[in-house]
Amino acid sequence: MVFEELVFGKQPVHELLRKYGSPLYVYDEEILRKRCREMKNLIKYPNFRVNYSAKANTNVELLKIIMSEDLDVDGMSPGEMYLEMKAGFTTDRITFIGNNVTQDELQFAVDHGILVSVDSLSQLHLLGKINRGGRVCLRINPGIGAGHHDKVITGGKKAKFGIAREDLQLAQEIAANYDMTIIGLNHHIGSLFLESQAYLEAAASILELAVDLPSVEMVDLGGGFGIPYKHNEEPRLDLTELGNELDKMVQDWTASHRPIQIRIEPGRYVVAECGALLGTVTAVKENYNTCFVGTDIGFNTLVRPVMYDSYHEISIVPQEDRLYEKYNKPVYVVGQICESGDILAHDRILPRCQEGDALIVHDTGAYGFVMASNYNSRLLPAEILLTKDGEIRLIRKAQTLEDLWQG
Ligand code: LLP
Repeated sequence: MVFEELVFGKQPVHELLRKYGSPLYVYDEEILRKRCREMKNLIKYPNFRVNYSAKANTNVELLKIIMSEDLDVDGMSPGEMYLEMKAGFTTDRITFIGNNVTQDELQFAVDHGILVSVDSLSQLHLLGKINRGGRVCLRINPGIGAGHHDKVITGGKKAKFGIAREDLQLAQEIAANYDMTIIGLNHHIGSLFLESQAYLEAAASILELAVDLPSVEMVDLGGGFGIPYKHNEEPRLDLTELGNELDKMVQDWTASHRPIQIRIEPGRYVVAECGALLGTVTAVKENYNTCFVGTDIGFNTLVRPVMYDSYHEISIVPQEDRLYEKYNKPVYVVGQICESGDILAHDRILPRCQEGDALIVHDTGAYGFVMASNYNSRLLPAEILLTKDGEIRLIRKAQTLEDLWQG
């Protein structure tokens, strides 16, 4: 509830909704900066860079803050790289970590001098054809994965990502045929871990691979650093412990082999907790003993609960000053989309709500707005930033009906 205390004590939620429309994504600059610094300070090893994985949130104003904290970025598509450049990242601070991308997309990166990581032998061929003599990174699939849901485990034998370890020799031969130098290895085993063991094991395994590849000057250990979405149940990831172990591993490796750059690639950890989604209760009803709290937050605005059964804390801000009253039974918080699966939270104990109350859906800074859609021809919401100086800035306008038929 840090966000609530910090922010909504000073900024009445209802006033924000009146001014900017409902629903509304809100970000807090101070929390964003704090998370950036925690990542930057993860290990003491000096040649260490943090690549913010911008797929979690590409709002250009947030990217600018992240850049000012001296993080670099990865991009998954020309669109992400374009936005990163718009935010002011120079192309030497961007890495294109693609998956099944087209030749035109590779060409976009090559034309801009952006380092590319390929994640299959066929993509390596494709890049070799258009960038003979260039530098390249290989995304390795270490054969192990970790994550909060099957859909976000990106390493392991059934995951579509990366080059299998046993194909590394072949990859070297292909690169040599195109006179390409393999300067980096990267991997990402999955999204959201709260215990560090799998991450550390994967890190050890990719460092091991780098031993026999003398041209490799950078190893990127990926992202996946989790946050406790369940505020009262889940422990915070112990970054001190993880950092110490990682630091030791890296220092030992460099002492026995050669100096190397180490990178990590967090998305969620950097932006999730600085964001909240505000919305409005539009209807309350009890059908056959189930209480539904209807809101204007459908899965068009926040898809995580529907897509991964993800949990987000929800607070209710009553319209008038009145006492919180607990429901004696759990409620379903649902949206406006014409599908019965449009459920933001189920079996949730909330204070009694009424039409016109506001809700705060917490920790929605990552994979929130970026995954929103126009489904049911609903409009994308505005985004605002609460700056460290206590000001409010509109950082994306809400769509209008006009926007729906543009193009
Ligand atoms: N690097 C690569 C290559 C990735 O594919 C990802 C995330 C990251 C880094 C950053 O992972 P993070 O630190 O954010 O866990 N939409 C899902 C998460 C999908 C993550 C996809 N890849 C969600 O809402 O949970």
